[in-house]
Amino acid sequence: MNLIICQNYDEMSDKAAEILKEQLMNKPDTVLGLATGSSPIGTYERLGNMCKNGELDFSKVTTFNLDEYFPICSSNDQSYHYFMNENFFKHINVKPENTHILNGETDNPTLECARFEDEIEKSGGMDILILGIGRNGHIGFNEPDSTLYASTHMTSLTADTIEANSRFFERADLVPTHALTMGMSTILKAKKILLLANGRSKLEAIKKLLSDDITTNTPATMLKLHPDVTIICDYDAYADVRIGIDIGGMSAKVGVVNNHKIIARKDIPITPESTTASITEDLYNACDEFRKTYHTLSVGIGTPGLIKNDKITASNLPFKDFALGDILSKKLHVQVKIANDANCAALGEQVAGAGKGSKDMILITLGTGIGGGIILDGRIFSGNGSAGEIGHMCIETNGLPCPCGGEGCWEQYASVTALMRQTREAIEKNPDSILADCGKEKVSGRTVFAAIEKGCPVAEQVLDTYLDYLAAGITGLLRIFDITTILISGGLSNAGDALLIPLKEKIKLPCELKVATLKNDAGIIGAAAL
Ligand code: F6R
Repeated sequence: MNLIICQNYDEMSDKAAEILKEQLMNKPDTVLGLATGSSPIGTYERLGNMCKNGELDFSKVTTFNLDEYFPICSSNDQSYHYFMNENFFKHINVKPENTHILNGETDNPTLECARFEDEIEKSGGMDILILGIGRNGHIGFNEPDSTLYASTHMTSLTADTIEANSRFFERADLVPTHALTMGMSTILKAKKILLLANGRSKLEAIKKLLSDDITTNTPATMLKLHPDVTIICDYDAYADVRIGIDIGGMSAKVGVVNNHKIIARKDIPITPESTTASITEDLYNACDEFRKTYHTLSVGIGTPGLIKNDKITASNLPFKDFALGDILSKKLHVQVKIANDANCAALGEQVAGAGKGSKDMILITLGTGIGGGIILDGRIFSGNGSAGEIGHMCIETNGLPCPCGGEGCWEQYASVTALMRQTREAIEKNPDSILADCGKEKVSGRTVFAAIEKGCPVAEQVLDTYLDYLAAGITGLLRIFDITTILISGGLSNAGDALLIPLKEKIKLPCELKVATLKNDAGIIGAAAL
């Protein structure tokens, strides 16, 4: 399905009119399928103007309307006959005999529906069909149900649709309870489909259409079976956007996240001169700018450091007990949530990355140190504010000193920095080894893997010892949390199976061990999901 997201109703109508104009230019005898309702009115208005200006000619066009209330007489100002005439037909030069709308006055609905199907068939089929979508996901008057009808038929309207359509009637009890409508197969036989959706009330329906499996309970999801559907919607109908901010030592990455996907982003540099005030101002401006375009529900911030009572203290940033979230929330008038950046990355992986589907998981980031995030029951476990500092659990008493003030911390043995140190030590002891050759220019986390590929036993030994440490920490975490999924991220995760397969063998407990997939986007997506 093609998706065109517009700023507002006018832009949506412009886009739809352009597509229809192109269709009519290419095929003047187009067979048009038409919807009623508020969604296509702007499009019809534009097409009417194009016809008046001589840009478009409808004289060879044939039209079929999706549906009509039943029973209703065509002169009733709520009938779709009346609607089409007022909003479209009387503004274009379509021949009245070429327009087809189901007869809401018929005394034999079954025959009327069969006749209508025949007419469509005889016309050669609809070239392009304009659809709206009900807030309950209906298409035409194919209402959510356990079964749907294939061809044109009579149907009863759901309470939700009666309520939604009552806005056009004086009273809700005047809305007809039945309708005649094209069936799902009639609709799917159109060569092209253009679905229009605008406004907040369509958000849920569009979300379901885009993300749910095909189900008769949301008839619009059937459109996924069609090869040429274009959805044109405005931000209100599409956007359930949240802003995610991933603050780092050098920059803050601000992203607009919709359905766990980043749809717009901006990087704000952070320099040694940056102050709490300048960072707050820059973040506010970025969020405010995005807010003008995207309907923003909330803002989430991932930041390094410790978060206590929603206040941040970070050694590599000018934040000391700083209530960034509170300040931004007051300025932006939206909810702002804050969490540790590693925890946000873990949440990002859980909602949209390799951890999707695992409610309990731990993300282990192997880098200069070891970072981590613990997700329990779909939520970040932050304890008193600093849980998840897995790199600083002690795995060696009286072990190597750590900048945190402790000794024998896991990251001193199982981070990439540790692997590089172990590689250098092995090179010193084995200067004639393949490993020494691979590391003669520069030793990195990859050196050991490169040497193993060339068959180096010294490198194999280095990796074996390193993996013993890595596995010991992971086994400890599994013992404590009894979770199913462990994700590995950071530069070393690029080694893929060369890392995962031997590591798995050393982990004594059952678990799914996977490489994280979102890379640098995990923090933004996770922050937005807070
Ligand atoms: C109208 C139709 C309906 C509407 C839908 C959205 O012919 O078949 O499915 O398209 O109910 O209505 P609006 O556009 O008024 O929100």
